[in-house]
Amino acid sequence: MSTVGQSLRFVGAAKSYGDVAALKPTDLMVEPGEFLTLLGPSGSGKTTLLNLLAGYVEPSAGKIFIGSREVTHLPARHRNIGMVFQNYALFPHMNVRENVAYGLKVRRLSRAEVERRVEAALHLVHLDGYADRAIQQMSGGQQQRVALARAIVIEPDVLLMDEPLGALDKQLRRSVQLELRRLHEEHRRTTIYVTHDQEEALVLSDRVAVMRDGRIEQLGGVDDLYDRPVNAFVAGFIGESNLLPARVTAIDGSDATVDVPALGWTVVAPAASGIAPGQDASLLLRPEHVLINAGDGIAAEIDEVVYLGELTALHLRLGSGDRLWARQITNRSLRRGTQVTLSWQQENARIVPND
Ligand SMILES: Nc1ncnc2c1ncn2[C@@H]1O[C@H](COP(=O)(O)OP(=O)(O)OP(=O)(O)O)[C@@H](O)[C@H]1O
Ligand SMILES: [Mg+2]
Repeated sequence: MSTVGQSLRFVGAAKSYGDVAALKPTDLMVEPGEFLTLLGPSGSGKTTLLNLLAGYVEPSAGKIFIGSREVTHLPARHRNIGMVFQNYALFPHMNVRENVAYGLKVRRLSRAEVERRVEAALHLVHLDGYADRAIQQMSGGQQQRVALARAIVIEPDVLLMDEPLGALDKQLRRSVQLELRRLHEEHRRTTIYVTHDQEEALVLSDRVAVMRDGRIEQLGGVDDLYDRPVNAFVAGFIGESNLLPARVTAIDGSDATVDVPALGWTVVAPAASGIAPGQDASLLLRPEHVLINAGDGIAAEIDEVVYLGELTALHLRLGSGDRLWARQITNRSLRRGTQVTLSWQQENARIVPND
């Protein structure tokens, strides 16, 4: 079976609660079959965005489309959306079968059809044989998969998942992630997924939206966000980063020249758009791009060594007292107290606005 989901579109959609702008006016286009992840701090508007799509919350302004159909004021039950809630919201007094079948009740299907669909949904989440179990007798990970089965059993055009793996331990998370990816590859339902876990976002997503204060700060492929963050907030949110205060002195094409007091150096590096001379900005250096003892460079002392197996994280203290991280192939001669030089390839650094 293969289905292709519907496109999703926000046109200036916004939601306020009194003075709180939970979602500021937002334009968003999600392609049919796309897997989009929302990343962002607590309170940044992720659940609000999902609730607007699902129809649990009405927008204060703007329009929402699913496929070519405007759904701005359409009740949730007419939208054919499957939602997995932040707290799973299973019915504790119902068994697994009844929980999964719940969304089908309103659809006037025959009993045999309901039974067939429930079995198929449980099979997809690897819970064959669990239909008659009480919810309390299921582990956290199993309950999570029941919530997922309940969302997909209605064969939704769109699947919305709000931190569905938040309660699981790392190993179980990993295996359910792979299951989610398999399900997505098989069915290509348009999916919006919320997580706090950036690694999870990388494993699952076609594109990622980084949210802050009710706004999408940047939307793009994982590579875009990692290599070309629009500002220091996005840079700090995706992957590990060193962000050093920098003052822009000149712009030449797409490069900026900056003074970086922490380094005692003038640095030239590719700049994000919107960088202008005289501006306070940040120099972004990813730890894996910091080169140790690769010729001339800035003097530093190794402050701390964290072995991560094949890789080692080095905490470096600069002459100025500022610190930064480097990540290297493990080299046992680099110990705490060792004096080193650090440098980087010009194209691997980036100048980003502070906000
Ligand atoms: N029903 C409501 N009434 C008033 N304010 C609300 C309501 N729902 C959400 N908010 C506010 O809107 C903002 C966005 O909330 P939202 O739940 O979308 O955040 P979130 O990104 O999902 O956060 P979390 O990661 O903690 O789940 C917050 O400031 C929140 O307090
Ligand atoms: Mg939330």
